[in-house]
Amino acid sequence: MNKRILVTGGTGFIGSHTVVELQQKGFDVVIADNLSNSFEEVVDRIAKITGVRPDFEKTELKDASQVNAIFDKYPDIQGVIHFAASKAVGESVQKPLMYYHNNLTSLMNVLDAMLSHNVHHIVFSSSCTVYGQPDKLPVSESSPRKKALSPYGNTKAMCEDIITDVAKVNDMDAILLRYFNPIGAHESGLIGEYPQGVPNNLIPYLTQTAAGIRKCLSVYGNDYNTPDGTGIRDYIHVVDLAKAHVVAIERMLDNKCKSKTEIFNIGTGHGYSVLDIINSFEKVNDIKINYQIVGRREGDIEQVWADTTYANNELGWKAERDLDDMMLTSWNWEKSRIEN
Ligand code: UFG
Repeated sequence: MNKRILVTGGTGFIGSHTVVELQQKGFDVVIADNLSNSFEEVVDRIAKITGVRPDFEKTELKDASQVNAIFDKYPDIQGVIHFAASKAVGESVQKPLMYYHNNLTSLMNVLDAMLSHNVHHIVFSSSCTVYGQPDKLPVSESSPRKKALSPYGNTKAMCEDIITDVAKVNDMDAILLRYFNPIGAHESGLIGEYPQGVPNNLIPYLTQTAAGIRKCLSVYGNDYNTPDGTGIRDYIHVVDLAKAHVVAIERMLDNKCKSKTEIFNIGTGHGYSVLDIINSFEKVNDIKINYQIVGRREGDIEQVWADTTYANNELGWKAERDLDDMMLTSWNWEKSRIEN
């Protein structure tokens, strides 16, 4: 019999790609999502890609009774991958309580339901945002966490602590995956990121500029202490990131965890500047991007990339897709959205 995984936020950007990878590895999936930042049609698209329709439950995870109802309905759930969260940094500054409610209450309801239904494994989507601007690069899992610059970042650190405390004293193990910058889209062009309104992140802004939806991409600062002066990040293809979740859940189901809570950096180990990204996009897609250098964006860190040694050796996972691949699939996804 297939093992069933509950994927919260499974119609979202990273969630949907993870559901595809899980199903392709033979897992049964139930998705719980309130569709606040995604569409139910994603479920059809996952079915199109994999040939299997995941179960879908429209669920408000802030409501404990709805969370319990899922575990009651699917008593074969063996593990949880918890993505569901609000994720806009700027919005979190404006609406801190909404972020604390959404991100913390939902997690606590999921943990409560797991304990009362004897589900022992959770993978949590954390973020390299917990490192702030690290003192040493590349940043490894043992680098200290820094004070968060936004309520969003704070919820990631707080969720890590809540999970660690709960796992410590219960029959539960946890894997915290600290993602770097997920970009790209599924090669089918059927799933990807749906940014709402004017995008805040570099890649959706860039692809919308290429598509003529935006006039000009602003590059936030070229006076950083980096080779070309623009900010550096570790961009990772969302399919590679999705695969890391499958490896993590399998590790827990196979009882291979070395401690109750394990932490892994999920990046490529390479840092690319904003100008590297623009150049790669222009080269692989043969499109010129209209951009201008403007002032720094408040709250941005200068540079960060991952030391992935621990994830590579211990998880046996490694990112395989390169920057060109990320730029190709990001553009492919933007184009498929224009056409539909
Ligand atoms: N950038 C631009 N122009 C834009 C948008 C971004 O030059 O229009 C630059 C930024 O200054 C930065 C880089 O592109 O140097 C990447 O910016 P993103 O907004 O794409 O990503 P961030 O690294 O700022 O943030 C991302 C997620 C956050 C998460 C953070 C750390 O959006 O949710 O990584 O994990 F907290």
